[in-house]
Amino acid sequence: MTLPTGQASFTGAAVSDVIDLARRKVDRLISGHPGQMPIYTTGGRWHFGEDAWAPLWSGGFLAGLLWIFASMDDSGKWRRAAEEYSRLLEPRKLDGGTHDIGFLFVPSWGRWHALAPSDRTRDVLIQAGRTLAGRFNPQGRYIATWVSPGSTFIDVMPNIEIIYLAARLAGDARLADIATAHALTSRRHLVRGDGSTIHEGIFDPETGEFLHGGTHQGYRPDSTWARGQAWAIHGFGSAYRWTGDERMLQTARRCADFYIESVGDRYVGPNDWDDPQPEFPYESSAAAIAASGMLQLAGLDPAGGDDYVRYARRVLATLSTETFLGRPGDGWEGIVRHAIYHRSEAIGVDESIMWGDYYFVDGLAQLLAIDAVRNGAGR
Ligand code: GLY
Repeated sequence: MTLPTGQASFTGAAVSDVIDLARRKVDRLISGHPGQMPIYTTGGRWHFGEDAWAPLWSGGFLAGLLWIFASMDDSGKWRRAAEEYSRLLEPRKLDGGTHDIGFLFVPSWGRWHALAPSDRTRDVLIQAGRTLAGRFNPQGRYIATWVSPGSTFIDVMPNIEIIYLAARLAGDARLADIATAHALTSRRHLVRGDGSTIHEGIFDPETGEFLHGGTHQGYRPDSTWARGQAWAIHGFGSAYRWTGDERMLQTARRCADFYIESVGDRYVGPNDWDDPQPEFPYESSAAAIAASGMLQLAGLDPAGGDDYVRYARRVLATLSTETFLGRPGDGWEGIVRHAIYHRSEAIGVDESIMWGDYYFVDGLAQLLAIDAVRNGAGR
């Protein structure tokens, strides 16, 4: 990895100010639309209701934002909201129709359990993990997406954390084996030798044979869709955190290094890095996820940690500039602008999207925690 030159001093009060701005935006959202969980903005205003592309999958990110704020606040206000929004998601623990169960439950009930474990939080998480594990195809050794029984996505990687969590809470090694089998299949078929990623793997669901790659949100099957790359950094890092399997760490590093080499000192790249003429210069949610994933990796990887903290800090500093950050009073309801949900379906294009906002704040919170441990010394 060659780290771009350039300085970014983004520490302490500057980071806290941005978190404060995010907190005010989320406060306005939950006061104005109680109990509703938006997906993306349209012209800067939150869009509620159905997801036009996928089974609803993003509610956990708003609940997760509330849990992050709850963990920084003693008043009980954010905790009450976080519990309420998490409870709204509980019925999805039995939803076998999507692979996105981890996105729904790890930021919500997972954070709740981490802060205040109870039998209830444990049981919900175990059920959610078992539900996702039910989508495992034993022949192909992958978790199938909602698209078809023969499809898996690189986006499934961050979702399998719910299976590892359930395995730990239930003491069920069979569950963890399913998550690891999926991760190794993804590593083999969805991560290229240079650390770039393929969005979708298509298998014969009867024999398990890998047939070919594909994409939905990227430019073409053999290109690198930015958010898929970011999900891989996060997902393989998390798989290493749960397993200690060095293959996961190496894969997460290769994916992170490919991000750094490809995006370099722009810090935020377009929706697909092989698109010769991207219509929009940025897909900011990928940058937020990648920064959060690199900070996770830094905590797991003493050998390469400093470079990942330095790069992630610059990504988050870039996302905190006026180009990206919606300001109070400017009419923009989301936190981070210039994200893209689904370019070819024209859904949530050049807008804020809820997972971009969540991973941005998660990254900022991780940065504060890292700097606190290092006694405020920015690296
Ligand atoms: N389905 C996850 C994503 O759009 O990134």
